[in-house]
Amino acid sequence: MLYNEDCVEGCKKYIANDSVDLIVTDPPYNLGFGGTKQTKSKQPRFSIIANDQLSHRDYQRFTFQWLHQAYRVLKPGRHIYVCIDWRMYPHMVLWMRRVGFIVKNCIVWDKERMGMGWQYRYRHEFIIFAVKDATRNRRVKTRTSTDVWRYPRIPGNKTVHPTEKPLDLMSKAIQESSEEGERVLDLFMGSGPAAVAALTLNREFTGFEVDLSHFDTASKRVSELSFNR
Ligand SMILES: C[S@@+](CC[C@H](N)C(=O)[O-])C[C@H]1O[C@@H](n2cnc3c(N)ncnc32)[C@H](O)[C@@H]1O
Repeated sequence: MLYNEDCVEGCKKYIANDSVDLIVTDPPYNLGFGGTKQTKSKQPRFSIIANDQLSHRDYQRFTFQWLHQAYRVLKPGRHIYVCIDWRMYPHMVLWMRRVGFIVKNCIVWDKERMGMGWQYRYRHEFIIFAVKDATRNRRVKTRTSTDVWRYPRIPGNKTVHPTEKPLDLMSKAIQESSEEGERVLDLFMGSGPAAVAALTLNREFTGFEVDLSHFDTASKRVSELSFNR
């Protein structure tokens, strides 16, 4: 199920307590990001992401709201993966702990290709890996898997969303932390790579996206998937 709705309200309406097997999500980082400006017109190709330009206090309030919902709906012992970058990492990790998640690791996504930034161009992001109720912590599938994941980022001129994540990155988390037929949730779907990955891997999927144009992109990707199967 894909919903063009605010994820906090949507979770309250549609998702029962302890009913989701895995959360993989990529929230706004509050960096006011609208995508690369390396276009012919020097203008960004997208408008700024919703909830990506808040005061720190409003961002904290917004984050607590969705984290509370994430904690409520996740089954005990199941995993949550939250994408974030180095600037927001210390806050996000603290806020996740405050709502009750037990943070187990910080995965480094090595994007293989450099992006923006100067004085060391950005080539990595973090993915906070946590569990609800560590006493029942499910094991990840691949025992030899490390906390550095190398998947090339999508070049800026090929993206369909300003902060698009590669399909393989989402697939990795889903494969490691869920079984076929289980329910995966993404509260901030964007262009829908987690949806495509989950459905391709025969999981159930629930996703929220508040921006209609990104929601349409995700829905189109998902419907093309069903058409090709
Ligand atoms: C960092 S992006 C996710 C990008 C996605 N991983 C992708 O690869 O396309 C965050 C998304 O969350 C959406 N968003 C922001 N606030 C939201 C809310 N309250 N509920 C649902 N979606 C929201 C934004 O419109 C944006 O598309």
